[in-house]
Amino acid sequence: MSAVDVIPLARPVIGDRERELVDEVLRSRQLSLGPTVTKFEQMWADRLGTKHAVACSSGTAGLHCCLHALGIGPGDEVITSSFSFVASANVILYTGATPVFADVDPLTFNMDPAAVEAAITPRTKAILIVDIFGYPAEVPALIEIAERHGLGIVEDACQSIDGDYNGKKLGTFGHPAVYGFYANKQLTTAEGGVILTDSDELYTQLKSLTNQGRSDDGAWLVHSRLGFNYRLSDVHAAIGIAQIERLDWMQDARARIAGMYQERMASIDGVTPMYEGPQRRSWFVYAPRLDADLDRDRIIGRLEAEGVSAKPYLPCIHLQPYYREAHGHAPGELPITEAISASTIALPFFCEMTDDQVDRVCQAMERAIKAERGA
Ligand SMILES: Cc1ncc(COP(=O)(O)O)c(C=O)c1O
Repeated sequence: MSAVDVIPLARPVIGDRERELVDEVLRSRQLSLGPTVTKFEQMWADRLGTKHAVACSSGTAGLHCCLHALGIGPGDEVITSSFSFVASANVILYTGATPVFADVDPLTFNMDPAAVEAAITPRTKAILIVDIFGYPAEVPALIEIAERHGLGIVEDACQSIDGDYNGKKLGTFGHPAVYGFYANKQLTTAEGGVILTDSDELYTQLKSLTNQGRSDDGAWLVHSRLGFNYRLSDVHAAIGIAQIERLDWMQDARARIAGMYQERMASIDGVTPMYEGPQRRSWFVYAPRLDADLDRDRIIGRLEAEGVSAKPYLPCIHLQPYYREAHGHAPGELPITEAISASTIALPFFCEMTDDQVDRVCQAMERAIKAERGA
């Protein structure tokens, strides 16, 4: 099979508008700390109805700043999900605190509030909520738990761009939420992120933390706290503005492709389509589950032999080599997370996927499973 026939897992939409806006920034010579970043932030705040948006160099950077602003540090524990990208726990380690993993709900794949509550100890300082695969976590229940125990909250909505819970946008619940803009996301700036908050105080702190701890009055080279260089450049923000302009179209396109997949996958024996519950999913990946008797690696091999990219997704964080070796985690700690993680498979999913490509993926999946089961 030639390379052109391979259907990739993800592929950003990049068009003339991105090129035009990037070119404008390059011509302006204001490549960083310029008006394009400010405009990008304002567009997010306007779109989501949050009071503030702080652009940053990555989702990871945004999450790290939020934990730092909450004063999380050595000796503290932060509860999060292991069914997430490694950054959700790494940012806790960056502060010197310890990530404590709560098991997830078998349908939504998000943290089970009862498991979160059971994981609270006298050292717990915060909950880092993750909205995995674009499906919102049980945000109100988690807020209630946090309030009862006096804990802070940071929300990792990196996979849930434009997400909401019961129509209320993430970032408007009284705690900060972070989106990530890596190239496989619903919207990309190549690398980048944004922190959403309604708090004036947190906004001032985050603006400073992302910009080397610069003093709150923006005074020239006066640094009033220990900060980071987590700035987003104006070049990246220019790509982001073009992407926000077409975000509705991109979200609709993803939802349409997901709809086609859902229908087809439901008819394939051995596959459980993605969960559709009471909340709206901001479609990030298409990752159905395979029945436990199927060997996922062999299925992936068969798909790839037909030019269909596929990956085991997501690996649990607590079973990553670093987390086992440096932090003593081992299989068996989180039975639901581990079972989900062993059976979900990411398939090609991007806005400009054609109906024929979706059909090719589904046919390849059907053939792979039949071949595995010797039918
Ligand atoms: C759930 C989750 N959290 C955090 C991140 C980190 O975002 P970034 O890659 O922008 O640092 C990602 C990125 O893929 C993610 O999926």
